[in-house]
Amino acid sequence: MYRKYLILILCPFAFLLLFAAISIGDEKPPIEKKGYIGADTCKGCHEIQYGTYSKTVHSKKSVRGPESQDACETCHGPGAKHVEKGGGRGVDIFDFRKNVDVKDRSAKCLSCHEETRQMASWNMSKHRMKGVACNDCHVVHSGGEKFLKSEESELCFGCHRDIKAQTYKQSHHPIKEGLIKCSSCHDVHGTFGSKQIKADTVNELCYTCHADKRGPYMWEHPPVQENCLTCHKAHGSNHYKLLNKRPPELCQSCHDWTQHPSSPYTSFDIFSSGHSNRMVARACLNCHSQIHGSNGPSARGLHFVR
Ligand code: HEC
Ligand code: HEC
Ligand code: HEC
Ligand code: HEC
Ligand code: HEC
Ligand code: HEC
Ligand code: HEC
Ligand code: HEC
Ligand code: HEC
Ligand code: HEC
Repeated sequence: MYRKYLILILCPFAFLLLFAAISIGDEKPPIEKKGYIGADTCKGCHEIQYGTYSKTVHSKKSVRGPESQDACETCHGPGAKHVEKGGGRGVDIFDFRKNVDVKDRSAKCLSCHEETRQMASWNMSKHRMKGVACNDCHVVHSGGEKFLKSEESELCFGCHRDIKAQTYKQSHHPIKEGLIKCSSCHDVHGTFGSKQIKADTVNELCYTCHADKRGPYMWEHPPVQENCLTCHKAHGSNHYKLLNKRPPELCQSCHDWTQHPSSPYTSFDIFSSGHSNRMVARACLNCHSQIHGSNGPSARGLHFVR
C-alpha cells in the first residue's frame, strides 16, 4: 500500500539523474572558482609560456601544475575576462612588468614562499625596502638555475656597478674566477648581519672560509679580533692581499712613531742607505709575520715576530 508513496519519493531522484546527464553533456569547465578558466585555455594563445612553465619545478612541485587547472592563474590571477576580451597586454590580467606595484608582484611569490626558511628575513632585506621585487632577479618562465635572470654575478653587477669595479682590482676575492659567488657571503633575501652578510658579524663570516684566523691565539692583535675589515677590503683592492693600505702606512695608521720601530721615515733610512727593512718588500711584516695573532712563546709571540 506504500508503493504509490515510493514513486513520489523516487521522483525527485529521477529528476536529479536527468539533470546530471544533461550537465555532463554540457561540458562545463571543472574549475568552479569564479573567473578562473584553466591553463589549457591559456595554452591556446601563449604556447611558449605554457611550454617553458611546464618544464620548471613550479609546474612539477607547486601542486598546481598544468594538469590541475589554474596553474597560470595562481600567479597571473583569474583570466576569464582576459580571454573573453580576446587577450591583450594589461587587459584584465596580472603581469609582472615594472609599472606594476613592487609589493603586489612580490606578494604573488610570497603567497607560497613566505613561510620558508629562505624568506624568514625578507622583511629586513634592503632589497625589499628599496623596492626590488622577486622578479627583478628571478624569471620563473626560464629553466635557469634557481630561475636566475642571468649568471649570478652578472645579475648582481647589473645594479651594483661599484662592486663590479672592485672585483676587477689587482687583489680580489675570486668571484670572476668562479671560485666563490656573491651568495657565498650574502643572502640577498635578508639576514640579521649588516649588509646582508650570511653571519652575525664580519669576522664570523670570514672565519667560515679562513678558519685559521679564528685562533685561539695566546697573543692577540686587537684589530684582528675586532673586525677584519679594519685592514682588509671585502671585495677587492689594488694593494696586495686585499689590504686597505700598504704596510707600513697601514700599520702606522695606528702605531705612531713614538714607538719602536714604527717610524721608518728617518732621513738616514730613506736617503742614505736606502734599504730600511721597515719599508721594503713586506715592510713591517718582514719581522712581524704573525700579524693575525701568535702562539709563539715569550716576547717573540707577544710582538708577532713569530
Ligand atoms: C585569445 C587568446 C588569449 C588567451 C586565451 C589568453 N591570452 Fe593572454 N594575452 C593575449 C594577447 C594577444 C596578449 C598581448 C600579448 C602582447 O602584447 O605581447 C596577452 C597578454 C597576456 C599577458 C601580459 C603579457 C605581457 O607582455 O605583459 C599575460 C600575463 C597573459 N596574457 C596571461 C594569460 C593567461 C594566464 C591566460 C589564461 C588564463 C591567457 N593569457 C589567455 C591573448 C590571450
Ligand atoms: C603555488 C605556490 C608557488 C608560487 C605562487 C611560487 N612558488 Fe616558487 N616554488 C614553489 C615550490 C613548491 C617550489 C619547490 C620548492 C622545493 O623544491 O623545495 C618552488 C621553487 C622556487 C625556486 C627554486 C627553484 C630551484 O631551482 O631550486 C625559486 C627561485 C622560486 N620558487 C621563485 C618563485 C618566484 C620568483 C615566484 C613568484 C613569481 C614564485 N616562486 C611563486 C611554489 C611556489
Ligand atoms: C636581488 C636579487 C634577488 C631578489 C630580489 C630575490 N631573489 Fe631569490 N634568489 C636570488 C639568488 C642569487 C638566489 C640563489 C642563491 C641563494 O640561494 O641565495 C636565490 C634563490 C632563491 C630561492 C631558492 C633558494 C634555495 O635555497 O634553493 C628561492 C625559493 C627564492 N630565491 C625566492 C625568492 C622570492 C620569493 C623572492 C621575492 C620575495 C626573491 N627570491 C627575491 C636572488 C634574488
Ligand atoms: C609562479 C608564478 C607564475 C606562473 C605559475 C605562471 N607565470 Fe607567467 N609570468 C610570471 C612572471 C614572474 C612573469 C614575468 C617574466 C618572467 O618572470 O619570466 C611572467 C610572464 C608571463 C607572460 C609575459 C611574457 C613574458 O614572457 O614575459 C605571459 C604571456 C605569461 N607569463 C603566461 C603564463 C602562462 C600561460 C602560464 C601558465 C602555463 C603562466 N604564465 C604561469 C609568473 C608566473
Ligand atoms: C668574501 C665575502 C664576500 C663576497 C664574495 C661578496 N661580498 Fe659583498 N660584502 C662583504 C662584506 C664583509 C661587506 C661589508 C659588510 C659590512 O660592512 O658590515 C660587503 C658589502 C657589500 C655591499 C654593501 C656596500 C658596501 O660596499 O659596503 C654590497 C652592495 C655588496 N657587498 C655586494 C656584493 C656583490 C654584488 C657581490 C658579488 C659580486 C659580493 N658583494 C660578494 C662580503 C662579501
Ligand atoms: C634590480 C637591482 C638589483 C639587483 C639585481 C641586485 N641588487 Fe643588491 N641592492 C639593490 C638596491 C637598490 C640596494 C639598496 C642600495 C642602497 O640602499 O644604497 C641593494 C643593496 C644590496 C646590499 C647591501 C645591503 C645593505 O644592508 O646595505 C647587498 C649586500 C646587495 N644588494 C647584494 C646583492 C647581490 C649579492 C645581488 C645579486 C644576487 C644583488 N644585490 C642584486 C638593487 C639590486
Ligand atoms: C666563501 C669563502 C670565503 C669567505 C667567506 C671569505 N673568503 Fe677570503 N678568500 C676565499 C678564497 C677562495 C680566497 C682565494 C684563496 C687563494 O687564492 O688561494 C680568499 C682569499 C683571501 C685573501 C687573500 C687575497 C690575496 O690576494 O691573496 C684575503 C686577505 C681574504 N681572503 C680575506 C677575507 C676576509 C677579510 C673575509 C671576511 C670579510 C673573507 N676573506 C671571507 C674565500 C673566502
Ligand atoms: C691589523 C691589520 C689586519 C687585520 C685586522 C686582519 N688582517 Fe689579514 N692580513 C694583514 C696583512 C698585513 C696581511 C698580509 C700578510 C703577509 O703579507 O704575510 C694579511 C693577510 C691575510 C690573508 C692572506 C694570507 C694568509 O695569511 O692567509 C688572509 C686570508 C687574511 N689576512 C685574513 C684575515 C681575516 C679573516 C681577518 C679577520 C679575522 C684579518 N685578516 C684581519 C693584516 C690584517
Ligand atoms: C686599527 C689599529 C691597528 C692597526 C692598523 C695595526 N695595529 Fe698593531 N696593534 C694595535 C693595538 C690596539 C695593539 C695592542 C697594543 C697594546 O697592547 O698596547 C697592537 C699591537 C701590536 C703589536 C704588539 C705590540 C706590543 O706592545 O706587544 C705589534 C708588534 C703590532 N701591533 C704590529 C702591527 C703591524 C706590523 C701592523 C701592520 C700590519 C699593525 N700592527 C696594524 C692596533 C693596530
Ligand atoms: C727588523 C725587524 C722589524 C721590523 C722591520 C719592524 N719591527 Fe717592530 N719590532 C721588532 C722587534 C724584534 C720588536 C720587539 C722589540 C723589543 O722587544 O724591544 C718589535 C716591536 C714592535 C712593537 C711593539 C712596541 C714596542 O716598542 O715594544 C710595535 C708596535 C712594532 N714593532 C711595530 C712595527 C711597525 C709598525 C713596523 C713597520 C713600520 C715594524 N714594527 C717593523 C722587529 C721589527
